[in-house]
Amino acid sequence: MSKQKYNKVSVVGGAGHIGLPLSCFMQNNGFEVVVIDNNLKSLNLLKQNILTFYEKDLEINLKQALGDGLVLTNDLEKISETEIVIVTIGTSSNKEHLELFKNLMNDVLEKISKESLLILRSTITLEDIELIQSNNNFINKNIKLAYCPERIAEGEAFNELKKLPQIVGTEIEEVYEVTKDIFKNLKIKTISTTINDAIFTKLFTNSYRHANFSLANEFYNIAVENNIDFERIRELATIDYPRLKNFPFTGYVGGPCLPKDLETFIKSYNVEDSLLNHLEEVNDKFLNNIVQRCNKIFDEKKLILLGLSFKVDSDDIRGSGSIELYRKLKKEGFEIFPVDPLVNQEEIDFELFEFSQASKKTNNILIAVDHKNFKEFDLKDKKVFYVEI
Ligand SMILES: NC(=O)c1ccc[n+]([C@@H]2O[C@H](COP(=O)([O-])OP(=O)(O)OC[C@H]3O[C@@H](n4cnc5c(N)ncnc54)[C@H](O)[C@@H]3O)[C@@H](O)[C@H]2O)c1
Repeated sequence: MSKQKYNKVSVVGGAGHIGLPLSCFMQNNGFEVVVIDNNLKSLNLLKQNILTFYEKDLEINLKQALGDGLVLTNDLEKISETEIVIVTIGTSSNKEHLELFKNLMNDVLEKISKESLLILRSTITLEDIELIQSNNNFINKNIKLAYCPERIAEGEAFNELKKLPQIVGTEIEEVYEVTKDIFKNLKIKTISTTINDAIFTKLFTNSYRHANFSLANEFYNIAVENNIDFERIRELATIDYPRLKNFPFTGYVGGPCLPKDLETFIKSYNVEDSLLNHLEEVNDKFLNNIVQRCNKIFDEKKLILLGLSFKVDSDDIRGSGSIELYRKLKKEGFEIFPVDPLVNQEEIDFELFEFSQASKKTNNILIAVDHKNFKEFDLKDKKVFYVEI
């Protein structure tokens, strides 16, 4: 395992939200990167420097990386030409995803070169690791395995890739040393631990964040049921009171990571009869309470719903609380005119409207996700209710 060998990298799942920023970042910092992805449509667009999702500074980084020789392909055989293979495909604890991940890892281990370094970056479980470690190709080819979980927030990839320390899970000192050198070349500090502890750390982090946001929603639910103005209480409790300075605002607990990682945590560690088993109910109730407030606040069962993505200024609708809210409002009998210029109509199974069109239909506005560009909309003379403060 000579150090100078470790310069060629393939990133499997490299066209995704995690894989693509990482691939560009590595290519722009001296590595030779091959993006491998089975989404041909994305690959073709990316080759022309056309973005397939929003990520701050991605366009400029992709342009530079393409200019520096970043390769994009759907050919998994290419991993045999690189010494480092990083896997960043989407994972979850649902059966279909588990099966896809298992099959992909079998293919990767079949094609990977001897002595390669295999870095897993997707959220995974101990079971995934055990399957990989018991694979004959893994054993016979003497593959070095490190689990290096991604912890960035979507939209902040290029900022956080540089800033966050990298947890490196491996039991083998030599593997840690090689992995540390790779991140050192990217000026990223590493923290050494076992694979087991790295898995627990990643899942616990997202479950903690989920619980933190859910607790704020639980207080909101209780306040609403007791006719108490929760926003006012929140303000009272936090004014010049440093111990509550990190108290979260109420809002959705969604997106591509938190709900699915909580579920994975619960299943992986057989968590039963715990606070964690009730968090999703809290958030469901939170959305039901928003629906009830819409019933009270608005004078007719008609509203414009602004913002559909899972968070502000994002185009990602995976795990979107706003879309869940749309469905609940629809069930309640509301006529809804959803508006979100960031979101792609093709990804949604209901009609999106332009604001100019929708604003002729009703004066009721539900700001479900408050994108910056909504500031341009004329909301004077409208009845406006914000889901998230
Ligand atoms: N999105 C986030 O903010 C975030 C943050 C931290 C960690 N993570 C974790 O990172 C992982 C990836 O998440 P993501 O948001 O990038 O997912 P994503 O869906 O955006 O990207 C996954 C990519 O893998 C590709 N892919 C799927 N199966 C493949 C196969 N068999 N061969 C080749 N390519 C394949 C897809 O086409 C896609 O481009 C997940 O485990 C997620 O939990 C995500």
